[in-house]
Amino acid sequence: MTEQTKKTLKQFDLYSIERTPAYVVFEDILKENMRIMQRVMDESGCHILLALKCFSMVRAFPVLSKTLKGVCASGPFEARLGRENFEGMVSTYSPAFSEGDIRECAENSDHLVFNSFNQYKFFKDIAKQVNPNIKFGLRINPEITEKAACDMYNPCRSGSRMGVTIDEFKPDELDGIEGLQFHALCQMGADVLEKAVDAFEDRFGEYIDQMTWVNFGGGHWITQDGYDIEKLIFIIKEFRKRHPGVEVYIEPGEANVLNAGIVVSSVLDIVKNGSTKNVIIDTSATCHMPDIIEMPYIPDIIRAGKGGEKKYTYQLGSATCLSGDVMGEHSFDNPLSIGDRVAFLDMALYTMVKTTTFNGMKLPDIHYVTSEGTIDCVKKSGYHDFIKRLED
Ligand SMILES: Cc1ncc(COP(=O)(O)O)c(C=O)c1O
Repeated sequence: MTEQTKKTLKQFDLYSIERTPAYVVFEDILKENMRIMQRVMDESGCHILLALKCFSMVRAFPVLSKTLKGVCASGPFEARLGRENFEGMVSTYSPAFSEGDIRECAENSDHLVFNSFNQYKFFKDIAKQVNPNIKFGLRINPEITEKAACDMYNPCRSGSRMGVTIDEFKPDELDGIEGLQFHALCQMGADVLEKAVDAFEDRFGEYIDQMTWVNFGGGHWITQDGYDIEKLIFIIKEFRKRHPGVEVYIEPGEANVLNAGIVVSSVLDIVKNGSTKNVIIDTSATCHMPDIIEMPYIPDIIRAGKGGEKKYTYQLGSATCLSGDVMGEHSFDNPLSIGDRVAFLDMALYTMVKTTTFNGMKLPDIHYVTSEGTIDCVKKSGYHDFIKRLED
């Protein structure tokens, strides 16, 4: 995390928002990430898109779309969201489309990426009818063996349904396909991208120059501390030299919005069980920050340490009935009291897009802190969100 980002977060008064739970996203931090993305594009010649599956906060789109070249979508809703709200192109990929999906996706996409030759054959004519300018791509699986932090997020895991393997590849069915895409990374460095590009070229190299574009997917942890940006730029530049005329796209989600948001929660109660002091808060991991459970990982909290690091250690958990709905042990300099606010760091990504109202939990409000320092409440949550999921 840069010093500037730390400063932005430190200066934010957790009590300046009216109520919790709340997501708060900072424009200044998005701008910092965008400066890095701009450099990567300028120096490597690639195009960077935003993966909407990670972050779909429309209020932040103007700042992101000043730099990024468009979005990648996972289906008709995201394609439409991107087309209507984000400058630039829309690239849509799904492991499988239905006929209804294809019509809507084709209408709102520039690149349409299929997961199999089957789907391509089945839908190419319909898609062209709807949008004669659409360009087709195929997702391939480079089958890298890199150990992912979490197998659930490893598209190259054994038996994966993501992308055509070289054994299933049908060169005689490539007619009309202009792009090849892989997505093989998750929170990974440029060294793993290098392996993925090597595997891509080893297996599919003879087809690359028939294409006008390739897409190296997401999972590039570009804005993370220690990420080797020089290496990323080098890999893409060299690829472009080896394949002149082939445009390179990448479509990170996480790296575009890394560190840009927090979840602010309030302490509702503190209950002891043996030596464990449980702090119950109004935010839920499963409903509002599901990667905590899915990965799993222990999120950082502003001005707190890991359990045992500071004087007062607590286990933080939510007010749902799911026993495992906990955010792990954290420690603080001072004892926590009912009504205190705590803020979880790095919560712009894969949070707002994944919320549920399980247990009748309230969804967090959503705030946007502009560079001028105003706090825009872009979503006030309430009973309407809960009932709308169940009944019109
Ligand atoms: C096809 C595709 N592109 C892009 C992304 C974005 O990945 P990340 O947010 O890890 O950069 C994903 C994430 O699952 C994906 O499946």
